[in-house]
Amino acid sequence: MTAVTAVTASPSAGRDPIRLPVPRRVRLGLLVVHLVATAAWIGLDVALGVLVFVPMLDASWTAACHQVLPLLFWPLLTVALLSLVSGTALGVVTRWGLVRHRWVAIKLVMNLLLVTLIVVLLRPGLEDAGRHGRALAAGLPDSGEVPRLFMPPTVSVTLLVVATVLSVWKPRGRVRST
Ligand code: HEM
Repeated sequence: MTAVTAVTASPSAGRDPIRLPVPRRVRLGLLVVHLVATAAWIGLDVALGVLVFVPMLDASWTAACHQVLPLLFWPLLTVALLSLVSGTALGVVTRWGLVRHRWVAIKLVMNLLLVTLIVVLLRPGLEDAGRHGRALAAGLPDSGEVPRLFMPPTVSVTLLVVATVLSVWKPRGRVRST
């Protein structure tokens, strides 16, 4: 017999209709994908931070670190989109809804904002850093136009930690009362 997500997981959840009941293993599979994606996202942001901050402490690392930075774009975008898609699916198949509870709606906005920042701001910055690193490695004079990339890892890790706290805490509060 196939187990289906419980309709009333807690007394207070009794009012929450499930939009799309799915087998329990599907919901758990989505949760695993979601957790792995968000954990990998935080890990990649930490790697981004290391590559950005180490050259600030020791300039001899600048060429190496800046050449590696552009490689992080696609992995970062992939895990950010995976988090968005799996989180959205979880919202649809669980009693939490997509924009029913504030903590889910806030995460949705944060995730969308971060995906936008990755594409619009981070990508050009990483490409500039790569060009700068390659020029230094080729022995060309330092143009001095070093991209300032300390904000992206700082902002992203902070928002992802806030999202993780919200997810575990699941504070009460609905977008609109029903
Ligand atoms: C912004 C990055 C995100 C992070 C770091 C994150 C983190 C997490 C974590 C750690 C959990 C597990 C909580 C637990 O089981 O106790 C979780 C669950 C959940 N997340 Fe996210 N999440 C993110 C984005 C999203 C988005 C964009 C959505 C929906 C639009 C979403 C919807 C959900 C839902 C509904 C659950 C509960 C699943 C369940 O109880 O079965 N998340 N998230």
